[in-house]
Amino acid sequence: MQFKTIIEPFRIKTVEPIRQTTREERERLLAEAHYNLFLLKAEDVLIDLLTDSGTGAMSSGQWAGMMLGDESYAGAKSFYKFETAVRTITNLKHVIPTHQGRAAERILFGSNLKPGDIVPNNTHFDTTRANTEYRGATALDIPIREGQDPAVILPFKGNIDLEALERTITENPGKVPLVMITVTNNSGGGQPVSMANIRAASQICRKHNVPLFLDCCRFAENAWFIKTREEGYADKTPLEIAQEMFSYVDGATMSAKKDGMANIGGFLALNDDALAQKCKNMLILTEGFPTYGGLAGYDLEAIAVGLEEVLHEDYLQYRIRSVAYLGDILTANGIPIVQPPGGHAIYIDARAMLPHIAQSEFPAWALSLALYLEGGIRSVEIGSVMFGHQPDGSEKPAAMELVRLAFPRRVYTQSHVDYLAEVLLYVNSIKENIRGVRIVEAPPVLRHFTAKMALI
Ligand code: F0G
Repeated sequence: MQFKTIIEPFRIKTVEPIRQTTREERERLLAEAHYNLFLLKAEDVLIDLLTDSGTGAMSSGQWAGMMLGDESYAGAKSFYKFETAVRTITNLKHVIPTHQGRAAERILFGSNLKPGDIVPNNTHFDTTRANTEYRGATALDIPIREGQDPAVILPFKGNIDLEALERTITENPGKVPLVMITVTNNSGGGQPVSMANIRAASQICRKHNVPLFLDCCRFAENAWFIKTREEGYADKTPLEIAQEMFSYVDGATMSAKKDGMANIGGFLALNDDALAQKCKNMLILTEGFPTYGGLAGYDLEAIAVGLEEVLHEDYLQYRIRSVAYLGDILTANGIPIVQPPGGHAIYIDARAMLPHIAQSEFPAWALSLALYLEGGIRSVEIGSVMFGHQPDGSEKPAAMELVRLAFPRRVYTQSHVDYLAEVLLYVNSIKENIRGVRIVEAPPVLRHFTAKMALI
């Protein structure tokens, strides 16, 4: 008998209490946090879907691995385990540990970008964009057109626009030092990129002698989508699929806080010997010696085990299904989300849900405040507060106004998700009362983290 319920493929050994607050308290806490959910205290949040980054639960295998951590400054055993785990999946020659993803980005871009360069990507995430622009280069987003329409249902909405890619490279000779593909496409709704798209992008890059890098934070989730949606991959293991994905690229940046299943860590991996040397020199300057890169030996152990566990089929099936479960309830009740549900998060289309709030009054930010006020849920705006401020100081509305509900790995159970759905349905029933917001004070770069906001 094949039963249809997909269960959490783990049992719980350690629990961490979460705290209920009243609506009245939350009203006050929001005002004290200047209407910015990043400025709340985590203990005042009931269900925290701010991010899936570093917020996952580690397994008993990972905790056991941590006890084996070798804290030697140079050449630690833990480094070689980590290196083997990364190489098994990526087959990339040089594996450089970093304290998290953005450190890998900074080191890579600091070594190979110059002012005036252009970096095409299906969609840059905020830190990737900021690190590119910090070098005086242009972060160019070229997702396929359908990837920017929340309602369109396609299996691989995260794909990069291949025509735009080839055009960008040919029209800007010598100015495209690398191309990036982000899997899954986080800012574009957690949507996957197909193997065919990675392969074709790789052919274009190789033809023009431009290295292709994966921003591979969620490579395992992407592999699962390929397995379940792309022809010819149903019988391959997630590991085999991941290996093929990496076979088409020259390097990768990784935040191990996502599909590394760890609370901290990342890496830069690449084949180019000279560039790797430059990166390692830079690493020593700011992160640490190349066999630890700003991490403790026990962190390297946790990541090595996490990279193996994340490719287990029962885990990936549960992971992708638990996100889709919420997406299905919202869709059935007429709440507009980016379709189909992404790998690590549900993205609510706030512009469609709150047509009475102008884009200049940040509808997605306003909705994220309402979810906290009514249900103690913390989400994150991926819209014009995050992306609207241009390097030249002007404002340009983001392509989409989304509220992301990101699922920490192995943390919440189905009843938490049922509660979430209940809160969302309630907020949808009172949505006419939600007001827009304005920016009171904000820094010029990555302003969403610290901006002070006010209700209109
Ligand atoms: N690239 C992507 C696609 C990301 O989603 C992130 C982080 C990074 C790079 C940077 O990695 O945080 O380890 O420095 N995304 C988190 C998020 C913060 O909430 O989506 P990091």
